[in-house]
Amino acid sequence: AEPDMLVGILDSMTVQEKIGQMSQIFSHSEHITEHLAYSIRQGRVGSILNEVRLHTVNELQRLAVEESRLGIPLLIGRDVIHGFNTIFPIPLGQAASWCVETVKQCAHISALEAASVGVNWTFAPMIDISRDPRWGRIAESLGEDPYLCSVLGVAMLQGFQGDELHKNGSIAACAKHFAGYGAGESGRDYSTTNIPENELRNVYLPPFKAAADAGVATFMAAFSDLNGVPASGNKWLMTDILREEWDYKGFVVSDWESVIQLTTHGFSKDNKDAAYEAANAGIDMEMVSSAYFEHLPDLVAEGRIDMRQINNAVKKILHLKWQLGLFDSPYTDASLLPKPLNSQNLQAAKDAAIKSCVLLKNDKNILPLSAGSLHSVAIIGPLADDPYEQLGTWIFDGDPQHSQTCLTAITQELSGKANIHHVKAMQTSRSHDQADFKQAVKSASTADVAILILGEESILSGEAHCRAEIDLPGCQEQLINAIAETGTPIVLVIMAGRPLTIETVLPKVDAVLFAWHPGTMGGPAIADLLFGKACPSGKLPVTFPRKVGQVPIYYAQKHSGKPATEQAFIHMDNIPVHSPQTSLGMAATHLDTHFSPLFPFGFGLSYTQFSYQNLELSHKTLKLGETLVVRVLLTNVGDTDGEEIAQLYIRDLVGSVTRPVKELKDFKRVKLTAGKNEWVTFELSTDKLAFYDRNMQLKTETGQFHLWLGACSQTGLKDEFEIIDD
Ligand code: IFM
Repeated sequence: AEPDMLVGILDSMTVQEKIGQMSQIFSHSEHITEHLAYSIRQGRVGSILNEVRLHTVNELQRLAVEESRLGIPLLIGRDVIHGFNTIFPIPLGQAASWCVETVKQCAHISALEAASVGVNWTFAPMIDISRDPRWGRIAESLGEDPYLCSVLGVAMLQGFQGDELHKNGSIAACAKHFAGYGAGESGRDYSTTNIPENELRNVYLPPFKAAADAGVATFMAAFSDLNGVPASGNKWLMTDILREEWDYKGFVVSDWESVIQLTTHGFSKDNKDAAYEAANAGIDMEMVSSAYFEHLPDLVAEGRIDMRQINNAVKKILHLKWQLGLFDSPYTDASLLPKPLNSQNLQAAKDAAIKSCVLLKNDKNILPLSAGSLHSVAIIGPLADDPYEQLGTWIFDGDPQHSQTCLTAITQELSGKANIHHVKAMQTSRSHDQADFKQAVKSASTADVAILILGEESILSGEAHCRAEIDLPGCQEQLINAIAETGTPIVLVIMAGRPLTIETVLPKVDAVLFAWHPGTMGGPAIADLLFGKACPSGKLPVTFPRKVGQVPIYYAQKHSGKPATEQAFIHMDNIPVHSPQTSLGMAATHLDTHFSPLFPFGFGLSYTQFSYQNLELSHKTLKLGETLVVRVLLTNVGDTDGEEIAQLYIRDLVGSVTRPVKELKDFKRVKLTAGKNEWVTFELSTDKLAFYDRNMQLKTETGQFHLWLGACSQTGLKDEFEIIDD
């Protein structure tokens, strides 16, 4: 319910003051400029973006609360994406944990740290479905799958917002970027998206709907153009779907200058027209640019924008300020919150990094390494001892001096046991200079094992950092080849912001641990995994292609009329000379690579093995509205304690619109000591099988279904069931 106080404030506001609330200003400077102070005093600012110095933030609040006519406090926004001072794994890495508690905890700690300098609003979670690893922002996403992304996106926003927004240490979250931003053409940031409505509703919108239902405080409009209408001017998205269909009560902020970019898109003729389109679409607050401030008063005076639209926006903005408790306590007292970077936060960062690493290869169980039986270890690569690069994208407030690198952690682990030779070998991951290779090869040749720590630097992923090739950049592959020549076993640790095409590298190395950008505590987490103090348990939240030409490749593809099969697959090398074209495979695949991915969605090895047995379904036939209970006996059949992520997939065999070959419907992270077993149970209501049909109605259709329960999207015990009318 709207408190009377807010109604009173709204009633006493001038049009200028209302539009002020709809304006977010960038400021990142110790000294508040005269202009900004004046604007705040005049009630022309609703929110400040990027100010993170506590005394400055408190002074900004003082200006707003004590020196403006109505004393309305400010929203202080900042991109707190995967940590504030303590940096957690990049979101894509967190998603690889498939762990709701971990994702929630990372966001909760990030909120506490950010709140300690007065930040009360973050622009996360980013819940754009990301199926193109060329796109730099895949690093910031929760991967390719609508279900996983929904569940973890909700966990993240709950971690930021806590149980109550007004509690000390809770900050408002923002579901971004609404909508379809991850589908940009050829993985280029900001580029056009063309997404048929049915696909939009079945794939791209579900995480946003889940966030809206879970009470996310705000939404952010995407930069991109959706089917010809840029999101910031897209009334269908912002009003028809978000407000009318979903009944969302929070407010929508534009992206950075995305209101005036409506003109750059060629959608509005000038900034006044842009302000009109954005406000009319339902963008409540303009980020950074000032089209609202400059033009909304005239648009209202001219009757083009209805005052009710403005009142609505302002009401929602004031409401959030009230929910955050800012009217009662606008100032931040850092002593009331835990100290950033405290030991618990660092431990949580280490735990999250451990859970997010994915073991992709482990020939002859070379891992875990036994510290006691090693005499000499070569640690090679540009990312072995780089406190900055392990942090990843969006880490404005993370200070690399707190990072613990792999070199430091492994040195500690092996202290007094084995000699360590560290060779950087390349100045950066992108270097093409091979001058230092000799040194690297020399140290590898005399070592018991070479640990190569390679990948991508932080700058190669994130906003506007897209790649056309997604291989190991620079001459890292040549480095691997040179070291492989020595015959010394190679353990490859990869830090990167996206899946990489490492097919040609795999045969040269004995083990691959994919660590994403693991954050502040990446080093100790990786050392614990390499030396068996922790057991790998992460699973891929995104498919790894063999070649970039396979992109987009994702597990939930449609079957097509001519699905690729081993029989139909013809590799280029096997095509006879002068073969008539019609004799080719006639299947939905490429000639120059296998149709399967390099590593499928959900894949990840462990130091132990898990067996799935006795798949049981409560029904073979169930009526619409009923719930299928599925259980399986999961056993840790190895000799190491470990955690498994059991995944439940279905296929709806016949649909009024074609259905994906598999769809994730549930998962559970299960901890099992060696030799122990446990029944893992899932409840699958028929509502969970609903999809948007040809008429854009959300419905569960009757018919036959396949169901798999197993360790990844390509394996699992299989059964069938049928849904009939009730
Ligand atoms: O939150 C971000 C958004 O994701 C991309 N553009 C800038 C915003 C604020 O920094």
